[in-house]
Amino acid sequence: MSSNIVWHDASISKTERRDKNNHHSFILWFTGLSASGKSSIANALAQELFERGNQTFVLDGDNIRHGLNKDLGFDENSRKENIRRIGEVSKLFVESGQIVLTAFISPYQEDRDTVRALVAEGEFIEVYVKCSVEECERRDPKGLYKKARNEEIKNFTGISAPYEAPENPEIVVDSENFSIEECAQQLIQILSSKNYIK
Ligand code: PPS
Repeated sequence: MSSNIVWHDASISKTERRDKNNHHSFILWFTGLSASGKSSIANALAQELFERGNQTFVLDGDNIRHGLNKDLGFDENSRKENIRRIGEVSKLFVESGQIVLTAFISPYQEDRDTVRALVAEGEFIEVYVKCSVEECERRDPKGLYKKARNEEIKNFTGISAPYEAPENPEIVVDSENFSIEECAQQLIQILSSKNYIK
């Protein structure tokens, strides 16, 4: 860290922002293989939350890699840095009183735990989007699994790079056997029962 830098407290607190929004602010951290449905579920859920009057925003792997993280590749250190930056950005969203939905493969448990440790208890909810590699490969919406099998893409998660399934996620959605809409509704029910959303 640089020296000679001083932290400034914000004039509007996180609590004041939450009170005004009338809902909790937190990170809903979706993790799962490519083509497991992370982005689709996060966006379906965000739409529903928005319609109910919640302040929400989706951060998506493919999109963030077009801008903020366009300098990063898919080797282990780049993925680590990808998740570290997203964790910091997500924390800012939590401070701003919003519900942030993140859709990143985030293959390493250690990196997800690092993000968890950045925020307070109850502000990080790990959602495992559970779908087998066989089913993801069968879907292959972007043709990436095919390229990975042909070795046109190196370090492809689930094929030639590891994916560590969450050890103790708060929520598991089974996107192999339930539709996007059903998974989103399951999440709405869980978040409602915790009084985290409007
Ligand atoms: S990570 O592991 O969290 O840093 O990855 P993420 O930022 O979520 O980016 C995943 C998307 O990048 C595309 N892509 C790859 N994924 C995995 N491995 C390799 N080598 C790779 N190369 C490109 C792919 O479209 C991922 O999008 P999703 O939405 O997960 O399918």
